[in-house]
Amino acid sequence: MVMSNVLEDLEAVSLKLQESSISRFEQVCRDRQKGGIERIVRNHTLTQNEAAKACGVVANTFKKYYEEMLEKGLIEPVIVEKPKKLFSLSQMHAIMDYMEIPKWSDSHNYTHVINVQNQKGGTGKSTLSVSVSAALALPLHNRMRTLIIDLDPQGSLRNFLAPQIESDTDLLSAVDIMLGDEEEGVYSEYIESGHSHEDILKSSIQESHIPNLHILPAFTDDERFSSNAWMSYAETGEFNHVKYLKEKIIDVIREDYDCIIIDTGPQINPLVWSAQYACNGMLVPVTPHQLDWSSTSAFLRNLPAQIKKNLPNQGENIKWLKVAITNFNPLKDSQIANTIRTDLGLGSLMMANDSLSSIAFESAAKNYCTVLDIRKVEKLCPDKPLQDAQTSIEAFTRELTAILGLVEHQSNNGSL
Ligand SMILES: Nc1ncnc2c1ncn2[C@@H]1O[C@H](COP(=O)(O)OP(=O)(O)OP(=O)(O)O)[C@@H](O)[C@H]1O
Ligand SMILES: [Mg+2]
Repeated sequence: MVMSNVLEDLEAVSLKLQESSISRFEQVCRDRQKGGIERIVRNHTLTQNEAAKACGVVANTFKKYYEEMLEKGLIEPVIVEKPKKLFSLSQMHAIMDYMEIPKWSDSHNYTHVINVQNQKGGTGKSTLSVSVSAALALPLHNRMRTLIIDLDPQGSLRNFLAPQIESDTDLLSAVDIMLGDEEEGVYSEYIESGHSHEDILKSSIQESHIPNLHILPAFTDDERFSSNAWMSYAETGEFNHVKYLKEKIIDVIREDYDCIIIDTGPQINPLVWSAQYACNGMLVPVTPHQLDWSSTSAFLRNLPAQIKKNLPNQGENIKWLKVAITNFNPLKDSQIANTIRTDLGLGSLMMANDSLSSIAFESAAKNYCTVLDIRKVEKLCPDKPLQDAQTSIEAFTRELTAILGLVEHQSNNGSL
């Protein structure tokens, strides 16, 4: 009797929670729309002089290209906020492609697949995944084609990118696609009506406010993946499900992306193993607090044995691993951060740059965006924490980009 009341209460609350999450999102959207152009798009616009500089030409030459594209109907007219013309990221991409300005994929032929993982909860995995993905995608000189795969059934990435996903019940998650026609459901219906696996996958990948940053979402019922995998193991003695992320998703779209980041939940289970099997590098965020470091060091100690035991290829695919200190407050956390660095040896397992602790990350999550999408004038959080958050994520991502360059170089030379 008591129990059924609890469940009824919970059911009533769950409806309310759903409604309040949708109305919070609608409120943020309304706020963003004030002033005619969506603020998150406006924040990334460039003036004509900035746009010309980004393209490496003088303003008049840039203007000529833009007008030529307008005449040919290849671009929408830019936003005018008198006296300025504002070029959005999508327009910049179109113009730079038209001008044949090289991007990352023109000189690199390697898709980096990075699994952000730590069995310990709340260490900043999702925050780091989404912030770094935006920082990789934003620089116009690279226009790095980036995909973020949410493999955590909590689906936290929707709090930063493409939150409209929340209200679209027909969308497929990575797990829906991985399980495919093993089960009845939307995927099987699409296949029966003649769509190919590749088409279903590509149309499940959602765009974000950054044109070259895409997202494949997660939903709470993705939890079923692990029980399906165990059941299949019990029947066949094989752990085929662990291969699904690589074979049914990554390999199908590998050529469309320069970097794929997979955010996993705080567990060790077949879904997480599938990310380990699909990746070629791992980032392990750790918060510099004693208990967090104790759990993370236990996780790291067990990782080699766990990978050898659970991955069909014993982890041969994993070429690099870096531990990243997140949520770092230099005034409070230096001692434990030093312990982490010392425990891991001075060497190659640590990222030199940290993600600083800043309330801007919380402000970004509240506004369904990343810290790199916020501008000081919006007053969504105080200037100094915003500046700290942006600077630390950009420095972290520069270091990561250098690592990716090195990994690719070594792989092309056969030394990996
Ligand atoms: N650099 C940071 N500065 C301040 N707060 C942060 C920072 N990074 C993460 N946080 C906060 O820490 C909390 C946990 O972060 P997050 O959800 O990214 O962790 P997680 O490892 O993905 O969690 P889970 O294990 O549940 O998936 C969030 O409230 C987030 O806003
Ligand atoms: Mg998370």
